[in-house]
Amino acid sequence: MAKKQILLNAFNMNCVGHINHGLWTHPRDNSVDYNTLGYWTELAKTLERGLFDGLFIADIIGVYDVYQQSIDLTAREAIQLPVNDPLLLVPAMAAVTQHLGFGVTSNLSYEPPYLFARRMSTLDHLTAGRAGWNIVTGYLDSGARAMGLQAQDAHDQRYDRADDYLELLYKLWEGSWEDEAVRRDKAARVFADVSRIHRISHQGPFYQLDGYHLCEPSRQRTPVLFQAGSSDRGQQFAARHAEGIFIAAQDKDKTRQLVADIRRQAVAAGRRAEDVKIFIGIAAVVGQTQAEAQEKFDDYWQYASAEAGLAHFASSIGVDFSRYGLDDPIEYGGSNAIQSAAKTAAANQLTRRKLLERFRLGSRYPTLVGDAASVADELESWVNEVGVDGFNLSRTVTPESYEDFIDLVIPELQNRGSYKTAYAEGSLRHKLFAEGDRLPARHAAAGYRPR
Ligand SMILES: Cc1cc2nc3c(=O)[nH]c(=O)nc-3n(C[C@H](O)[C@H](O)[C@H](O)COP(=O)(O)O)c2cc1C
Repeated sequence: MAKKQILLNAFNMNCVGHINHGLWTHPRDNSVDYNTLGYWTELAKTLERGLFDGLFIADIIGVYDVYQQSIDLTAREAIQLPVNDPLLLVPAMAAVTQHLGFGVTSNLSYEPPYLFARRMSTLDHLTAGRAGWNIVTGYLDSGARAMGLQAQDAHDQRYDRADDYLELLYKLWEGSWEDEAVRRDKAARVFADVSRIHRISHQGPFYQLDGYHLCEPSRQRTPVLFQAGSSDRGQQFAARHAEGIFIAAQDKDKTRQLVADIRRQAVAAGRRAEDVKIFIGIAAVVGQTQAEAQEKFDDYWQYASAEAGLAHFASSIGVDFSRYGLDDPIEYGGSNAIQSAAKTAAANQLTRRKLLERFRLGSRYPTLVGDAASVADELESWVNEVGVDGFNLSRTVTPESYEDFIDLVIPELQNRGSYKTAYAEGSLRHKLFAEGDRLPARHAAAGYRPR
């Protein structure tokens, strides 16, 4: 039987310090050039050389002001601040690639759905069906205040709002224009057949709309839907909507359990277990030999900032670690931010010292250090023994960490038959699921198509 193929996204953000904090100070790191087009077009070409399935672009609305109750460290270490708009990067990258997919994070809490629907349809047109959306609802009160609110909604209510938002978007993307609506018939002077364009009405608990979608159908109609967040309510949301789920890796047994739970809920929602592709975040420091990889890690470590990693984590779960001594027990409490992350930290009784030790390269993600064979072993173990489908690979020193991975790990995985040797044709959705460009009839969105 053919081996399961590993899916791979590069994980990045339109900012300097993304996940592996402090490494922007490394002499060979070029992330300070994030605000130039060349930085992104070169990255896109590099990733396509490595046959990456996608570039997953994180985003945040708000600033990290929980640690020491200020943005001092955030500004000094560029902890996701400054942060530019992710969506505007995509057309430039799409112009220099043919296959790379783009998963763009957009926080629905602050985007009117009617306008957002048009922006994503435009992106799907311009990329010829390579657009994906990472659906987030935000976790920062600083973002809510910046948008004129007192604080963000309660955790589960944010997901209720998201359900309503998605329903409205499905109506626009799937239900407003039939495929046959667009005739482009110059001789008959009919661009579109009005009988096949439907007026959408939505009277939801959070959103109301009466109108027509502004765009003709794009290749995928609904962009590929990603979701990150695995609280109980988050899993429920993902089981209904998500085609790709980004989870934070815990130990392998717990992750295996989570993966099984998510797939079970997808099946209960009328979908197939394999309709959701599950990705974990990792970093890799790779060398020609184990010793070379270790040397590289030690070099990177000189520049990394574990404290910046801690400040990032503080805002992710809403706990100011600066109030605690190194070995004090931390009161994790009920988080209104990323509940799944808070729960894992509480279950492992992580003190400030333990967190700093884990965040040695400035990141909370597992970091694989080794030669190609040992890194490939570990990746295969996550896929074959734990049941995830692939990885969101964060950058350490960029672009060399992506280049090392492509030059060393990818050929090793290809030799083992675990990674494609060429792209499949078609849209991002078709590449991931081999079932065409559109969402399958068993997905919730299909219920909003014209009968
Ligand atoms: C691995 C991971 C990556 C995430 N990336 C983002 C992001 O880029 N932007 C964002 O606003 N929220 C991000 N989130 C937050 C979630 O999308 C979600 O809004 C919040 O974490 C609630 O998750 P929960 O269901 O686990 O509590 C991320 C969460 C996880 C676990």
